[in-house]
Amino acid sequence: MDSVLDEYILNHIDKEPELLTKLNRATYVKQMRPRMCSGHLQGRILSMICKLVNPKYILELGTFTGYSALCMAEALEEDDAEIHTIDIDDEIEEFTSGFFEKSAYADKIHFHIGDAIEIIPTIDREFDIVFIDANKRIYSEYYDLIFDKVKKGGLIIADNTLWDGKVVQQLKHNDAQSLGILNFNDKIAADDRVEKVILPIRDGMTLIRKK
Ligand SMILES: C[S@@+](CC[C@H](N)C(=O)[O-])C[C@H]1O[C@@H](n2cnc3c(N)ncnc32)[C@H](O)[C@@H]1O
Repeated sequence: MDSVLDEYILNHIDKEPELLTKLNRATYVKQMRPRMCSGHLQGRILSMICKLVNPKYILELGTFTGYSALCMAEALEEDDAEIHTIDIDDEIEEFTSGFFEKSAYADKIHFHIGDAIEIIPTIDREFDIVFIDANKRIYSEYYDLIFDKVKKGGLIIADNTLWDGKVVQQLKHNDAQSLGILNFNDKIAADDRVEKVILPIRDGMTLIRKK
């Protein structure tokens, strides 16, 4: 039933842009762990949410093959608007840059290779949107680091916050990723500086609005 409904949804939402279909296919053919790629539904959701915010500056932690960055870039209307996206894995640089260059947003995308924890402080921008999708173990650290760089009224989106349902299961010994997500979810729930809601789509996506 789930897969029938998934197909129904995909047939009744905006089509996936052609470059993103190619990117998704190439990701599945050439990359290890292709399931990390956002894909059609999550991509359209990210694009829609970002367009509603009408952002000038977006920051993404965890680029991978660039699918989500390209979806969010669709919302950058002004000529001098920017998306900064960071990934620690230099092996995906060539693959991902190739798709960025083929896109209509090449001039607006700033692709940083390195550890987000080191790179975030070097980007001198106040962001309208930050998408957290890098190392699950340290989501809380990312949150603390980006918080002052988010505009008042700005949006933080955190991916994988239901972590395949593990957030409500018995924690396995040494499962640092699940622990990282659990700590992050508790931290956000207790943070009065923000409004928050968890969207139960795909692997869970938390929307956090800075008051
Ligand atoms: C889930 S994937 C990102 C998927 C992408 N946002 C999308 O939706 O298509 C996570 C990425 O985070 C990167 N990553 C992990 N730790 C990182 C860190 N400390 N700094 C920057 N990137 C990191 C990984 O190399 C991986 O490519």
